[in-house]
Amino acid sequence: MKEDDVLKAHGGGGASSGDDASMAQGEIGGPGGSETTSEGPRGSADPRNLPEPGGSSQVGTTVPLTLRIRRFNPEVADDPWWDEFTVTVEPTDRLLDALHEVKWHHDGTLALRRSCAHGICGSDAMLINGRNALACKVLVREVAPRVTVEPIRGLRVLKDLIVDMEPFFEGYRAMMPYLINDADPGSRERLQSPEDRERFDDTTKCILCAACTTSCPIFWGDGEYIGPAAIVNAHRFIFDSRDDAAEDRLDILSDRAGVFRCRTTFNCTEACPRGIKVTRAIQEVKRAVMFHKL
Ligand code: SF4
Ligand code: F3S
Ligand code: FES
Repeated sequence: MKEDDVLKAHGGGGASSGDDASMAQGEIGGPGGSETTSEGPRGSADPRNLPEPGGSSQVGTTVPLTLRIRRFNPEVADDPWWDEFTVTVEPTDRLLDALHEVKWHHDGTLALRRSCAHGICGSDAMLINGRNALACKVLVREVAPRVTVEPIRGLRVLKDLIVDMEPFFEGYRAMMPYLINDADPGSRERLQSPEDRERFDDTTKCILCAACTTSCPIFWGDGEYIGPAAIVNAHRFIFDSRDDAAEDRLDILSDRAGVFRCRTTFNCTEACPRGIKVTRAIQEVKRAVMFHKL
């Protein structure tokens, strides 16, 4: 049987070669059949298509933006509820700025995570108009006059937009995301050709935002699936010619919670704010597991 045939038999046919395709997250219902999954203008919050802020004639003007935010506070109520806030912001502000405006001037109890505000730390992934994105990478003008904001799916909500990331990081840690090589390199660094470095370049870009894993319907439905982000970070070391633990990682990924749970849905690739070809990386790991070829 050829490699492509075997991969198709394991749900891997869609990206067995070539570039990733994509499927919008909103086309698949979230866990528990949430009524919120298709709300809002789909596609308006794709951070990879946004123009750079600054230098715009819109700077200095202001617009009203109504934020519909899914709230949850176990100390206040057993069930989540919706709140709406209208703020005045500049079109070139980021959605994160608008959330700050709410928190600092309307309701200080609103809970969210953020740190860098520049798309680097990965802490402000949320569901924006039904799609996962980083709030600091979405401009107000892309979503005004109204936007719906929810916590990412598939992880337990602790409060408002904050979820329990521990299951996500547990999968990441299981991949041993560090270089393993006990051989003494001698008095020089471990050398690598540009071609060998290129092999895993794409997967070095991950910022662990969880946008991919929490957009995956398999992860929503099966808490055991290790998820695309863990596989991306395994890929980064499996295909690193300086690393000696590829077989150990592939062993872990070949079990029932590993790569073959992926049904090539492409939501992960669509959601990644770093533009990583997540599904392609998963396909490459599937091939490595099946054909013992790096
Ligand atoms: Fe985020 Fe992309 Fe890394 Fe997934 S692969 S955690 S979406 S940066
Ligand atoms: Fe899930 Fe991505 Fe596979 S969305 S099913 S991990 S292609
Ligand atoms: Fe750091 Fe958005 S706040 S990525």
